[in-house]
Amino acid sequence: IITRGLATSAARNAIKNVTVIGGGLMGSGIAQVAAQTGHNVTLVEVNADILKKAEGSIVNSVGRVAKKMYKDDAAAAKKFLEETQSRIKGSTEPAKSVSDADLVIEAIVENMDIKHKLFKSLDEAAPAKTIFASNTSSLSIGEIASVTSRKDRFGGLHFFNPVAVMKLLEVVRIPETSEDTYQAMMAWGKAIGKTCITCKDTPGFVVNRLLVPYLAEAIRMMERGDASARDIDIAMKLGAGYPMGPIELSDYVGHDTSNSIVQGWHKKFPDNPLFKPCDSQQKLVAAGKLGVKTGEGYYKYNK
Ligand code: 3HC
Repeated sequence: IITRGLATSAARNAIKNVTVIGGGLMGSGIAQVAAQTGHNVTLVEVNADILKKAEGSIVNSVGRVAKKMYKDDAAAAKKFLEETQSRIKGSTEPAKSVSDADLVIEAIVENMDIKHKLFKSLDEAAPAKTIFASNTSSLSIGEIASVTSRKDRFGGLHFFNPVAVMKLLEVVRIPETSEDTYQAMMAWGKAIGKTCITCKDTPGFVVNRLLVPYLAEAIRMMERGDASARDIDIAMKLGAGYPMGPIELSDYVGHDTSNSIVQGWHKKFPDNPLFKPCDSQQKLVAAGKLGVKTGEGYYKYNK
């Protein structure tokens, strides 16, 4: 009887329809992994042009995944790509896109006012069953959730770039997150092939709280002239076993993202020297040199 009860409850809570708001690097990656694992996905962006760009990057990334999964079987790789694509539909209307969603994941700009505006309207439009999650890198999940009437069905689902490759998912609970919501988020993380860890709603959760100060320290080391960018990168790859050095990783993450995280934390915790914004990074942001995605950061890239 107990087993049947659990199965029924799990089936009831199973997440099938996922709406992802924001089709940038992270949002398109989240849409991709959800679709690859059989979920129906609605990807929301502000206009058709940006949606098209997101679709292009998804096709590219699914192609790489398919090539790895079906090395010697081009037909199976093609089928995987087509089936994944067929599960993703685009939308430019956030409120309409959540009408049948089991889970909504927000991956838009890191601005509390804009997130509040979005979640307020989604809260009115979505059915009671819908779980809301934010992929924020550094803002408080509790503060984001505060404008909704469903704090018990709210949590953080924090992914890592490139989403298709990185195996971790941070599942963030706020005090109000219900046990059912938490379990549904953990089960969904497993269903999309990620290893989940649980964390509290603290700045940067686990990974970014450690990674962002490390990247900033590496930039400060370069700014002081202690070592060149290339030598710092080689040092951490060969001396500490990291897949990328910190300067190339900060180009990869995007200077807009890292800088906005550090700026936000610096405002909140002005006495913590680890959260001090870096001069050279601010200059890159001002010049639109955001890293790999714009073709130039501390290094230059072929776009
Ligand atoms: N989509 C699909 N597959 C991809 C991919 C993508 N976007 N990027 C890389 N891959 C695949 C490649 O096809 C390749 O597959 P293969 O093993 O079959 O050849 C495999 O991943 C390895 O890629 P590459 O050979 O191109 O290069 P690397 O071996 O250097 O791996 C990397 C690339 C996985 C990005 C690796 O360098 C890495 O792990 N870097 C660190 C990334 C990291 O730290 N991310 C977290 C950033 S913090 C964050 O995201 C949080 C946010 O809030 C700021």
